[in-house]
Amino acid sequence: MPRPEVYRTIAAVRAASRQARSRGKLVGLVPTMGALHEGHASLIRRAADECGHVIVSIFVNPIQFDDLGDLSRYPRTRDADLEVCAACGATAVFCPSEAEMYPRGRPLTRVSVSGLTDCLCGATRPGHFDGVATVCTKLFAICEPDKAYFGEKDYQQLLVVKRLVADLNLPVEIVPCPLVREPDGLALSSRNARLSSEERAEALAISRSLFAAIELFERGERSVDALVDAVRSPLTELSLGEVDYVELLGADDLSPIDRVDRNAVLAVAVRFPSARLIDNVLLSA
Ligand code: PAJ
Repeated sequence: MPRPEVYRTIAAVRAASRQARSRGKLVGLVPTMGALHEGHASLIRRAADECGHVIVSIFVNPIQFDDLGDLSRYPRTRDADLEVCAACGATAVFCPSEAEMYPRGRPLTRVSVSGLTDCLCGATRPGHFDGVATVCTKLFAICEPDKAYFGEKDYQQLLVVKRLVADLNLPVEIVPCPLVREPDGLALSSRNARLSSEERAEALAISRSLFAAIELFERGERSVDALVDAVRSPLTELSLGEVDYVELLGADDLSPIDRVDRNAVLAVAVRFPSARLIDNVLLSA
């Protein structure tokens, strides 16, 4: 597998993207914050299947962190990340510095998607989705992709990005990609590396409780209260993890529902001393 070209400047990554397009290639973008794992790899492979020029951006975006401790402890594994990009068929890796992305310091212009960001992580992480929406808009303007790949692991983020692209008429197709789990069920996340073995063992309760709710749903349960309770009850027993939220909402727009008579997302966040973890499952009515 040829090694991807590494770009550190906006001008260079944009020029390479334009050159690829002028040669008739589709341009795919996989935005990431690095510490790449099999979840990211699945997005890169999908992009490489569909596009002739695949840019993986690796940028730990400071303006989306509401907790400075989380930012400073965010795992950084650049050499291993480049190996993953190469193995999965990326042709370009964009690793800008903070000064390259934000040369005037914190940007005065923010992209803010209202409504969709009032609940779930938006309610507990103030400013987080403005930071995500702003950096994604910048990455689309810089890389000019035909397609951009986002994981359903961050389901609310996926809806926020889809909506900003629709509202601002950005010429990019957002491609949703399925959530990837460890063999034991834990949703893959860069933050999993920070968990102690005790936290890692407790964290399994998150996916287990979501799978139990799926079973209830498949046996005909449609009450939101009952399905949410099936997830929340076992999680309140944890000794290290503290439930941030468990919510079951409409899958298209995150609107509140009483019964699952349309597609819905059952989403969870649990705070452990070393990391806050999120997970979700989709229930198709
Ligand atoms: P990061 O957490 O690095 O995730 C980058 C992409 O990988 C996101 O689209 C995310 O949903 C996807 N991803 C992460 N874990 C996954 C899993 N287990 N299965 C499938 N996909 C998974 O999300 C961000 O970075 C940032 O907010 C970003 C969009 C890059 C903006 O800074």
